[in-house]
Amino acid sequence: MSQFSPRVLSGMQPTGNLHLGNYLGAMLNWIKMQSTHETLYCVVDLHAITVWQEPKELRKAIRDVTAAYIACGLDPKRSIIFNQSRVHEHAELAWVFNCVARLGWLNRMTQFKEKAGKDKEKASVGLYVYPNLMAADILIYRATAVPVGEDQKQHLELTRDIAQKFNIDFADEIREQGFGDAYFPLTEPIITGPATRVMSLRDGTKKMSKSDPSDLSRINLTDSADDIARKIRKAKTDADGLPSEVKGLEARPEAENLVGIYAALAGSSVDGVLREFGGGQFSSFKNALADVAVAKLSPITEEMNRLLADSAYIENVLADGAARAGAIAAPIMHDVKKIVGLI
Ligand code: TRP
Repeated sequence: MSQFSPRVLSGMQPTGNLHLGNYLGAMLNWIKMQSTHETLYCVVDLHAITVWQEPKELRKAIRDVTAAYIACGLDPKRSIIFNQSRVHEHAELAWVFNCVARLGWLNRMTQFKEKAGKDKEKASVGLYVYPNLMAADILIYRATAVPVGEDQKQHLELTRDIAQKFNIDFADEIREQGFGDAYFPLTEPIITGPATRVMSLRDGTKKMSKSDPSDLSRINLTDSADDIARKIRKAKTDADGLPSEVKGLEARPEAENLVGIYAALAGSSVDGVLREFGGGQFSSFKNALADVAVAKLSPITEEMNRLLADSAYIENVLADGAARAGAIAAPIMHDVKKIVGLI
């Protein structure tokens, strides 16, 4: 799709703390892409309110996640950093997409089924159309690539389906108005984090998640060095020691997870980690893992706290980001309205 210049957008919800899974699975990629692409990173506060959020906590969480973005290495000069709700075109385009996407498409979304739980009748309508808003987040900038975790693949497919249906349904207008044969790009998901799936420290078959009731299951970016070391020491393992070959990790999800985390944090490979620690006991490997985790994460925690102490700074980043994002979004929303026939 050469007619679209490369542009990257991604986002995370301001609910709960960011954790090691967010950092290794997504952020490292986001940071890297800053040097090769035009990048926009948003805090998706409109997505957060698809389930109940206490307003006081939401306000704080939006600022916290913004600080975490910057502390991890997103640079507000190189990237556009903003919160979704300040750029009203996201919500506006989402409405148009509510009218493009089909009920049958949304009915297939597995994340809705998981989040809505047993009593679907009580889920908000917003939770149901969540993927349409996500498509709008991406396409309001005509973004060509979206770095996300594995679990978002299905939403990216829906985004492409929406783009394609829009391009086909309005093909005549798109052509007549001089936009060629497609107005929206078919956005590519980019799922190549060094550890795209960081699993729970309590159960190696479940993703590390901010909604897990056990705080021992995850390492938060705000955890102290002591917390990090304690959680790693308590991490579930099996009775065997560390294998010296990758094959030996098969069907041992907890061992595989810890080795994967070490490799990602140390910038090495699973092979390399096993060469160094294979044949040894978990206890000494866990000490080494705690050291590397603390070394990587405590500067992030400190920087986050430093940034949060200056609330004007975060506010300025978000205001500036929203202005820059809005400058891209406004003409695209204008085009969309014209294409659709809204006067
Ligand atoms: N749904 C994504 C998640 O839960 C968050 C998100 C919302 C997003 N809008 C987006 C991610 C746009 C990438 C691009 O992780």
